[in-house]
Amino acid sequence: MTLFHMALEQTFLAIKPDGVQRGLVGEILGRFERKGFKLIALKQLTPSRDLAEKHYGVHRERPFFGGLVDFITSGPVVAMVWEGDGVIASARKMIGATKPLEAEPGTIRGDLAVNIGRNVIHGSDGPETAKFEISLWFQSSELNDWIPAEQVWRVEE
Ligand code: RTP
Ligand code: MG
Repeated sequence: MTLFHMALEQTFLAIKPDGVQRGLVGEILGRFERKGFKLIALKQLTPSRDLAEKHYGVHRERPFFGGLVDFITSGPVVAMVWEGDGVIASARKMIGATKPLEAEPGTIRGDLAVNIGRNVIHGSDGPETAKFEISLWFQSSELNDWIPAEQVWRVEE
């Protein structure tokens, strides 16, 4: 049996402490499931300062860096790896603009957030960032390689 392995990409997504506190985990996971992306890894953790500073290292010199790290380490984050064709750009589209008031309705931030510092979810912004962030947040043993049954059924038809 031949299985199709498309040009599969992986991205790192994290529901930030505000999303967890507001009970939005199921709503957000559901959007990526319904879109048709494949969940490869999932865990909840309260990030250490070291992890948060590495994750947002590109923003180290920005005035909001300290507050951003304080916030992201303030409580549990739901860290995920999702896989699929074009998932990096598509997830960024589904997340919406950084400023929730500028994010289109229909996007996660457009529908669920108001404040730039409480914008519910993070998504990798490109292939290199995705690789870096996946390896920063996950051990390779935590990544699950699996074949959705629906994909097998489609091939067998
Ligand atoms: P993220 O990395 O969290 O997915 O967000 P993003 O790509 O849309 O935006 P980015 O420029 O990477 O900024 C990271 C997070 O820092 C906070 N921020 N605050 N006060 C400000 O001007 C400001 N700018 C950015 C936001 O919470 C943003 O998500
Ligand atoms: Mg970013």
